[in-house]
Amino acid sequence: MRIITLINGDGIGPEISEAVVKIIDASGLKIDWDVQAAGEDVIPSEGTPIPERVLKSIQKNKVALKAPVTTPIGKGFRSVNVQLRKELDLFANIRPCKNLPAVKTRFDNVDIVVVRENTEDLYAGIERKVNDDTAESIKLITRQASERICRFAFDYAVKNSRNEVCVVTKANIMKLSDGLFLDSYRTVAKDYPDIKKKEILVDNLCMQLVQHPEIFDVLVLPNLYGDIVSDLTAGLIGGLGVAQGANIGAGYAVFEPVHGSAPDIKGQNKANPTALLLSAVEMLKYINEFECAKRIEDALFKTLKSGVCTADLGGNASTSEFTDSIINKL
Ligand code: NAI
Repeated sequence: MRIITLINGDGIGPEISEAVVKIIDASGLKIDWDVQAAGEDVIPSEGTPIPERVLKSIQKNKVALKAPVTTPIGKGFRSVNVQLRKELDLFANIRPCKNLPAVKTRFDNVDIVVVRENTEDLYAGIERKVNDDTAESIKLITRQASERICRFAFDYAVKNSRNEVCVVTKANIMKLSDGLFLDSYRTVAKDYPDIKKKEILVDNLCMQLVQHPEIFDVLVLPNLYGDIVSDLTAGLIGGLGVAQGANIGAGYAVFEPVHGSAPDIKGQNKANPTALLLSAVEMLKYINEFECAKRIEDALFKTLKSGVCTADLGGNASTSEFTDSIINKL
């Protein structure tokens, strides 16, 4: 039986993890979940939000499904998410955003894949307080990491029959750091003659995304722009409740939704498990369980088409009712 690490997170994490595990279980696929608690709840007993055992479990099992984990703002421990990505060198964050059946949005022709660099930029954690009134954060960009993510984006485009890879920067202002990212893209792009190229500044991208999302295909971005733009593209397809994601490195893969722990709806049986479920579907494809992945995806789409959905999508189904409906359609 395949062993997979499950980080069930905090906030809405445990509710949506339970839903997804139940659905996979109902599909008949046997997975031995190696459940690893992480985040705020384990700090009192283990002194850190990301104990060594969590990393060891992923290193052993190679694949993990991860629900969101809270990061306190402005104080305390470094983000579990950032730390995991860094420690396991999960350098590519892939966030596909495609319209879902029966989920009404302003546009019905969105099919964008955000490929976000996951290990450096302003997330490198190099910050210091200069004095009481001044603080600074370093935006770290290296050629090695930039070329690696651009190559990943082009390879993804080739493998998934996409037409174009567009690089997103603010190289007109940050001429050295974003300039290096852009230069790395141009170097790598030469190896992919059949893929169309495009270069765009991040502010212009945001404007065009909310007017003409259909003109974009694969986007490759440094870490911070990727984080922000992928929430925007999530909004184009129905919001954070449906936006899936994956963190991929040379050795390991951690599948997790774009959204956070949603403390405002925690414990209310309201959360939409779709984003985590679609992340799990990608995980199943990654481990070559294509048939099961397809059946779960079909059952989800049938449920949405039948009008059953959670409050974030305008419906009135609870997390458990939505989950049961998917299970009934499996
Ligand atoms: P959030 O994504 O948790 O919530 C933003 C809004 O979207 C909220 O109104 C929430 O109720 C709604 N929402 C999110 N997921 C939903 C779902 N599945 N179903 C229905 N509604 C949903 O973002 P926020 O509030 O900025 O962050 C909360 C915490 O999560 C913070 O501590 C943050 O650091 C952490 N976070 C963790 C991530 C991770 O573990 N990968 C990613 C992003 C944030």
